[in-house]
Amino acid sequence: VALLFYSGTDRNGTFEASFRSALKKVAPSLEVRTWPELGDANDIRFAALWLPPENLFSKLPNLTHIFALSAGVDKLLQASDLPQDVPIYRLLDGGMATPMSEYVLLGVLQAQRQLQVLAEAQQQKLWKRDTDEPQAKDWHVGILGAGVLAQAAAQRLVANGYPVSTWSRSHKNTALNTLVCLLPLTPNTANILNSRLFDQLPTGASLINAARGEHCVDDDLIAALDRGQISSALLDVFREEPLPAEHLFWSHPKITITPHIAAPTSADVSARYVAEGVANALAGTQPAGLVNRHSGY
Ligand code: NAP
Ligand code: GLV
Repeated sequence: VALLFYSGTDRNGTFEASFRSALKKVAPSLEVRTWPELGDANDIRFAALWLPPENLFSKLPNLTHIFALSAGVDKLLQASDLPQDVPIYRLLDGGMATPMSEYVLLGVLQAQRQLQVLAEAQQQKLWKRDTDEPQAKDWHVGILGAGVLAQAAAQRLVANGYPVSTWSRSHKNTALNTLVCLLPLTPNTANILNSRLFDQLPTGASLINAARGEHCVDDDLIAALDRGQISSALLDVFREEPLPAEHLFWSHPKITITPHIAAPTSADVSARYVAEGVANALAGTQPAGLVNRHSGY
């Protein structure tokens, strides 16, 4: 029995090295192969993947379990050769809840303490002391999504004195100062960050998108920033990654860009999750984190 590993963003192999060494500690007898070195593909029953190439699944006739090395499975579900009958499991937290909550706190602090306004003043060498900053207790944060990462972010914000509401399908509160997107990308959530939503927020609200680039209608965001409806945006995810050099987001004075690093997958934690998942599978029990293909997350 073997497991196939692939990570589409592990350019220098550091994640793979840490993942392999962590997996060796918890599942020493599991043979790990790295795409495209399949060996005898008939042996491969498990796959642990992030952004797999298009033709990977069609090369694995005996696959029984797919472990996503991520919280979001949107790209995985789009693979044209994804076998329909093989269950997919995703990371629940996966070491990402803490960094994601830090990232959201960073963005909320940046907006509440008006760092964007001060950064623009600095460009003009302006000693600007009249920003009239509201206190955390008066800075309402709304989080789109109420899942593993959204709940961790909400707890962190509450611990720092911010009133927080999370959005679900049935409950949406728009009276807020910062809107945070932590939704999975599905047909129901694509393009949700659009002019109609921005216009429902109080003038001058700020935005944090740490979910997926496809949630945001880029032109609508730029228009909302330019007319002051949105005061600033902290963006970690983009429709195309890396964000192309010619994209208007790069040079927009009200946008802060981070390169999809809000919550990196932990090699150690994901190795333990895969090892536990494989152990469960071999014992005939269900691993944690089963993805519902119908809902898309
Ligand atoms: P999760 O636990 O599956 O949570 C998803 C939440 O979204 C659930 O509360 C779900 O509601 C809600 N939801 C789904 N569709 C909705 C809709 N149409 N309207 C309103 N709410 C909806 O996911 P997670 O682990 O917190 O991860 C969230 C996303 O973060 C991932 O999918 C990924 O795209 C992104 N992410 C980004 C990074 C980064 O570094 N930037 C890192 C990790 C993850 P129910 O409770 O009703 O199902
Ligand atoms: C990262 O973006 C993830 O979904 O884990």
